[in-house]
Amino acid sequence: MAFHKQTVRGIELEGKTVLMRADYNVPLKSDGSIADDYRLRQSLPTLEYLLDHNCTVVICSHLGRPAGKPDKKLSLEPIAQHLANLLHKPVHFVPECIGDRVKQTIKNIHKPAILLLENLRFHAEEEQNNADFARQLATDSLAHYFIQDGFGVVHRAHASTDRITQFLPSVAGLLLEKEVTLLESVRDNPKRPLAVVLGGAKVSDKIKVVEHFAKTADTVVIGGAMANNFFAWQGYNIGKSKLEPGQQAVIERVARLVCSDLHDHRMCLHNNQKIYLPSDVATAKVVGETARRVNKPVDQLAEDDLILDMGDQSIEHMLARLEGAKTVLWSGTLGVSELPNFAHGSARLCLWLAQHKTEVTSVVGGGDTADFVLHWDAAHGQSFSHISTGGSACLELLAGQELPGVAALLSR
Ligand code: 3PG
Repeated sequence: MAFHKQTVRGIELEGKTVLMRADYNVPLKSDGSIADDYRLRQSLPTLEYLLDHNCTVVICSHLGRPAGKPDKKLSLEPIAQHLANLLHKPVHFVPECIGDRVKQTIKNIHKPAILLLENLRFHAEEEQNNADFARQLATDSLAHYFIQDGFGVVHRAHASTDRITQFLPSVAGLLLEKEVTLLESVRDNPKRPLAVVLGGAKVSDKIKVVEHFAKTADTVVIGGAMANNFFAWQGYNIGKSKLEPGQQAVIERVARLVCSDLHDHRMCLHNNQKIYLPSDVATAKVVGETARRVNKPVDQLAEDDLILDMGDQSIEHMLARLEGAKTVLWSGTLGVSELPNFAHGSARLCLWLAQHKTEVTSVVGGGDTADFVLHWDAAHGQSFSHISTGGSACLELLAGQELPGVAALLSR
């Protein structure tokens, strides 16, 4: 499927100044250092392409949610240093994102060069999609083009993703093109059989994705705390496990898509052709490093049990269901994956995907799942076909929603 927006490949770039939106909203450790630089590494091909064309690249990004005010802990300065190490080239940091200092620094720099501006969200106008702020970003960066390469943020209509495109000719970077092309092809035209594994804490985050794939995928595995809501709908006691209120009606809607007869809630989702729900779960009485993993059938939970992972038998059943799949899309961890005792489901799925790398296209949705997979994979993500840099952006695209930061770019 062709990408329908103009990209950096289609414009005259030689010697130009460009404003590039990246998503350098990376996880930070408690000492402020970078916990995972995947988003930075994924932006390197576009940066290298622009440097090869003798450009001055002015990068803008957000980090965290500083609520419209400067916050030292969320400065992008350490990111500039880290990016310089990855690129083996200097990255100049400018402690503002608009204003004279930005203009002067860019004017005085020798091409090719890379500059990183300070956190856009230190200005409330960024999230307000404010036109004056966007105009100033465009003017002060002295840019000829705007390049959108921050896939993780294109689901937001902000000044640097949406309004900016009214002030500069705006095209996609190589990361954005790769993400959209790949995810759209898995959504609309996958190699079949297509298996979709959905986990994570919230049903509401993924319900549109569940509904979409309940119609189109060959198998949908439901795990993580999201499965608890399905268990509750089936009438099982889930003890003290996480449950998202108000989700019963949407689960009924999903059940209608996959069950021919809804009169018995429990049976209609048991051994269902399309949806696989765990039949056993790993439980504990508390959440913590030392909590003991106790497997229980889903109909035998006590009032004080917490469901923290897929059960051992269900892990095997899930992997058996995946056998023969040509595409596996996975979004949402299958348990409390930061605790090794309750990361079995997610870890076994990683292993299975890595072992089937040659015959299965594996696409991992971003956010927590990408963090888990990257942490697990000694090969830095090479064991999978694609690990998305987007969390919500990835889910919204998969659910068929329009992404404002992509829609605003010039069409081919
Ligand atoms: C993300 O990490 O999902 C993006 O950077 C968007 O961040 P936000 O949810 O704070 O807008």
